[in-house]
Amino acid sequence: MNQIKNKTNKSKKYIVETYGCQMNEHDSEKISWILEEMGYVLTDDIKKTDLIIYNTCAVRKSAEDKVLGKLGELKQEKRENPDLILAVCGCMMQRQEIIDIITSKYKQVDIIFGTNNIQKLPQLINNHLMTGSTITDIVEDTREIDESIDANRKYEFKSYVNIMHGCNNFCTYCIVPYTRGREISRDPKNIIEEIDNLAKNGCKEVTLLGQNVNSYGNTLDKKYTFPNLLKDINDIEGIERIRFMTSHPKDISDELINSYGRLDKLCNHLHLPVQSGSNRILKLMNRKYTRESYLNNIEKIRNEKPDISITTDIIVGFPGETEEDFNETLELVKEVRFDSAYTFLYSIREGTPAASMQEQVPNKVKHARFQRLIALLREIGLKENEELLNQIVPILVEGTDTNNKNTLNGKTTTGKIVYFKGSDRLIGNIVNVKINNVKNFSLEGIVI
Ligand code: SAH
Ligand code: SF4
Ligand code: F3S
Repeated sequence: MNQIKNKTNKSKKYIVETYGCQMNEHDSEKISWILEEMGYVLTDDIKKTDLIIYNTCAVRKSAEDKVLGKLGELKQEKRENPDLILAVCGCMMQRQEIIDIITSKYKQVDIIFGTNNIQKLPQLINNHLMTGSTITDIVEDTREIDESIDANRKYEFKSYVNIMHGCNNFCTYCIVPYTRGREISRDPKNIIEEIDNLAKNGCKEVTLLGQNVNSYGNTLDKKYTFPNLLKDINDIEGIERIRFMTSHPKDISDELINSYGRLDKLCNHLHLPVQSGSNRILKLMNRKYTRESYLNNIEKIRNEKPDISITTDIIVGFPGETEEDFNETLELVKEVRFDSAYTFLYSIREGTPAASMQEQVPNKVKHARFQRLIALLREIGLKENEELLNQIVPILVEGTDTNNKNTLNGKTTTGKIVYFKGSDRLIGNIVNVKINNVKNFSLEGIVI
């Protein structure tokens, strides 16, 4: 990290483009911090930049295709500006298949690094500048967490905080355990210190990040669980809202459910990816819970917190999914009444067990099921939102509409987006808004 301190690249400009999940967004904030420590300045002008970094996602083929398409377009930029450094990093780069494609067909790329060695970026840039050759540096897995890098956060009032890295679950469709390595928890001392500092600098909301926050603590020497961590964060002065992503249904504990009743800062929202409503498919997915145990947990959570918002992830068209299996998913959606859901068409990820399963579902069938699911979710989302009509709800104001600076947006503690008129001086504050119009997945209101 010493080279980071040498501000040798003063006034050089950079662009970081991010694909994928919150984990990647936060990694990009760290990359941004590293580059600014080196003296780089952010720009949005591709014609004037010295460095472009693509932080990529491998979760679905469409995400990878998008990045390869964009990289192709950059060939021209590189021709016009041969000094431009082009770097790619993130989950895609943890796949040898992709590295082979990039090094053979995308020769305009100068630096390739992965998810486990972000801190080496200054060294990789120097190596490239010194040798003029393509630098590839991938660390397959790591048992160490580099605590020396900070993040250049997009917002002052809300922040992502990693509490763990990696995943041990190996759901049969998922590439993440291969791109992010084995699970490892951060020392709670470091997490608390980071959040304490954030709070002192005006942060009101933290979103704790992990592929399965419910197994937080498993790699620590002492017994310290996710609910313990939530309790300690709840005690930090200045923090007003605590969110987390993502919680695996197989590991949800009564202790976590009880936290909703006990911790005043814990947001009234739980994102609990169900993936499918069919026990047969859940088994093929290696999810290690059943439809019944999932529903049982939802009931317990609603007993603890009746007005909690529950959201989920659903995959449509997993190999072998029959009409009957899919109907079970629809029935589960009706039973739980999710406030909203991220829905995905199953995408074959080479190297995962599901990729070689027989009975891949034809695209046409997948798409038709997908449309039916979306229609149902829209209908339920609207009805759930209608319950909020005329209610007064506290909103953390996050920003203004890009086209209309007088329209503010923010989120309820249940994670719903609300639009309302007001001055941008309110950004970063929690204000009371009366809801006067509802849509499928958003709300409108007036500040009172
Ligand atoms: N660790 C989190 C998030 C994983 S990735 C979790 O377990 O919930 C986010 C979502 O992408 C998953 O929940 C899943 O719904 C979806 N997903 C993962 N692999 C996929 C694939 N091969 N095809 C389609 N969707 C996928
Ligand atoms: Fe993927 Fe499953 Fe791990 Fe989530 S828990 S990242 S879906 S393997
Ligand atoms: Fe996230 Fe995509 Fe990687 S979802 S963990 S950026 S594969």
